[in-house]
Amino acid sequence: MRACRGEATPRPPLWMMRQAGRYLPEYRQVRQSVSFLDLCKTPRLAAEVTLQPIRRFGFDAAILFSDLLVPLEANGLEVQFTEQGPRLPNPVRTPADLARVIRFDPTKQTDFVLETIRLVREQLGADTPLIGFAGAPFTVATYAIEGKTAKNFAETKKFFYREPEAARRLLALLAETTRDYLLAQVAAGAQAIQIFDSWVGVVSPDDWERYVLEPTKALVAAVRASGVPVIYFGNGATTILDRIAAVGADVYGIDWRLPLDEARARLGGAAAVQGNLDPVVLLGPIAEIERRAADVVRRGGGRGHIFNLGHGILPETPIEGVEALVRTVRGA
Ligand code: CP3
Repeated sequence: MRACRGEATPRPPLWMMRQAGRYLPEYRQVRQSVSFLDLCKTPRLAAEVTLQPIRRFGFDAAILFSDLLVPLEANGLEVQFTEQGPRLPNPVRTPADLARVIRFDPTKQTDFVLETIRLVREQLGADTPLIGFAGAPFTVATYAIEGKTAKNFAETKKFFYREPEAARRLLALLAETTRDYLLAQVAAGAQAIQIFDSWVGVVSPDDWERYVLEPTKALVAAVRASGVPVIYFGNGATTILDRIAAVGADVYGIDWRLPLDEARARLGGAAAVQGNLDPVVLLGPIAEIERRAADVVRRGGGRGHIFNLGHGILPETPIEGVEALVRTVRGA
């Protein structure tokens, strides 16, 4: 929490995006008897897998186990998780389709998420904060429009270029429903919020300013007003970091494409940054993990730095790789 405020810490606190996931044998064990979506919707199990990486590695923060697409279901869009990744069989492709995207009451339609947060808080030590999360309006909109993880985001961009007003309405609506969803997470006990903008790197600087900035900024401001720090992770956005700073977050998540000290400078001297070891480094060798992790710590500068990967951990990551990372960051 001190690092979120931009303060100096003896070493950077450490957590990893997707820290609860398939690289953990104990996660795979739980997944043998339950589908991914049912796991997200069963608070006792979702709380259990949230805590697994904390027990094994003693990370400095837990992140709620859920998925970015869970609230889209509450928005009225059907969501499936298949072997090929997420699928939305009835995506938003025309202005008329917007009528199918509805507001929801997070304490009703996503109560299982809030119950997971309450259960985790009960079991988590007082020294370990729980991070709640949601997708940023743009990234959630890409799933609503494309119906899957896109390759070139042609459907999303076509929608923006052909139906600019409808595109703005969609992002504004998602910003509002995501605000209510995140404020409900804070009320349930989340102590910080991360907003994932996983695909924002595909928008041009002009389009960022025209469509994306305003709803994202409104969302960040509304969550911050509740008193918790907001981490904004704009994956692939290193080329527009100077513009990204306008979202007004407390902490900026940085991908692996730019060293942290340079990223901080491009952000205009942001108080706090999070990142940014390339997740592929964890596949080894160990000496390379140690060398590169130490370099990330050094470039973090000793204040306002939360150590993380530059994107989510890969399912094929060996446990020994994570152990080497933890040793290095703790010893730094
Ligand atoms: O970080 C954590 O440990 C918390 C849990 C978490 C998951 N998804 C669990 C998950 C979080 C924070 C997310 C966010 C998420 N989901 C994002 C943004 C983060 C990012 O990576 O940029 C995105 C884009 C999604 C959508 C999503 N969910 C995809 C594209 C996939 C399939 C790809 C894949 O890796 O299989 C998922 C599935 C998913 N979400 C899994 C987990 C653990 C794997 C599901 C399984 O157990 O089979």
